[in-house]
Amino acid sequence: MLTNKENGVKIINVCGARPNFMKIAPLMRAYRADGRIQPILVHTGQHYDEKMNKWFFDELDIPVPDINLEVGSGSHAVQTAEIMTRFEPVVLQHKPDAVLVVGDVNSTVACTLVATKLNIPVIHVEAGLRSFDRTMPEEVNRLVTDCLAELLFVTEPSGVENLRCEGVADDKIHFVGNVMIDTLLGFRDKAAESTVLETLRLEAKHYAVVTLHRPSNVDDEETFARILTALEQIQSQMPVVFPMHPRTRANLGKSPLGARVAEMSNLRIVDPLGYLDFMHLMSRAACVLTDSGGIQEETTILSVPCLTLRENTERPVTIDEGTNQLVGSDPQKIIDAFHTALSATESTKRPALWDGKAAERIVEVINKWSVARGVPAAKHASVSQ
Ligand code: UD1
Repeated sequence: MLTNKENGVKIINVCGARPNFMKIAPLMRAYRADGRIQPILVHTGQHYDEKMNKWFFDELDIPVPDINLEVGSGSHAVQTAEIMTRFEPVVLQHKPDAVLVVGDVNSTVACTLVATKLNIPVIHVEAGLRSFDRTMPEEVNRLVTDCLAELLFVTEPSGVENLRCEGVADDKIHFVGNVMIDTLLGFRDKAAESTVLETLRLEAKHYAVVTLHRPSNVDDEETFARILTALEQIQSQMPVVFPMHPRTRANLGKSPLGARVAEMSNLRIVDPLGYLDFMHLMSRAACVLTDSGGIQEETTILSVPCLTLRENTERPVTIDEGTNQLVGSDPQKIIDAFHTALSATESTKRPALWDGKAAERIVEVINKWSVARGVPAAKHASVSQ
């Protein structure tokens, strides 16, 4: 295996799309505090809009990426292939001891394939989550990444079970908690200062938030129409804020559903929000309706009812020990669940190890692992003593 004898443990860290940024942020901070790992940050450029990208780096204090592959958008095959083509020379040049990937986006799987074929170990943060629905691109990305990764960091007990069932050896699996929640807890006070409610003229606990971007919801006109039927009802009772993903906006622009949306006077469509404004908006909402994965986790910690507009979730702990409920796309089911959510008592449960310290645990495990594999102890070891 390649080692970096003079510089300590060298890890290329990959991020590419919006949900990766809040996962990479606490890791970069933990590396800095620990001092034993030499991180290189690679941005694939899967997300490139200022609102989906730069704002998060600024707000979450993520270092400017050392390398930006600037791949942009494309079909799954084109985007994945483009990331691979541009990532391979980076790995060859820097000869890292490991490549660390987070989450389940196309950048995650593309860089995993490149590293593995160059015999560089892959570390996967947020391993083991399974929706058991292979029509989801993210499920395919998760399966391939986990099957190739050397070190698998897991956020919830279901992830450990899933990996064991797939034959992953116990010594590769580490249940460490949730780096996304590290970011949420770390930036909670700062998010509290946001003035987004004043800007949108909203009253705390008297509005709902909706986000939708999954192809199964927004590329399928029938499904999207069913969800809109529910939103028509909900916005007649309270304002509904809809920070709209570019994919969703593009689809509405070319569909007759756009006219239906325009007629909902209490549905406020806004551009994607920065992290701090969005956390503030969610934390004071009466209810959140979403098809996102990460928002199911964030609402659980914020104790805000979450209605997930999907038939399955890869994050079952948010149902068992959180505020999440699967409601699919049936309008009546969504409306009924919305009414029930409004009268729900506030949940105080919190999944195990979602305590803001996941990144620290990950860095500890990586350091032990690298020593066990013969990667020399880092030159900065004394810093953390
Ligand atoms: C990706 C992830 C998804 C994640 C989501 C969060 C995959 C397979 N999907 O989906 O898991 O939940 O990010 O947002 O990796 N676009 C822009 N500006 C951008 C980025 C995208 O306008 O900065 C538009 C483009 O038209 C693009 C479309 O959005 O074709 C989809 O972007 P893409 O990165 O392919 O997937 P997402 O739907 O964002």
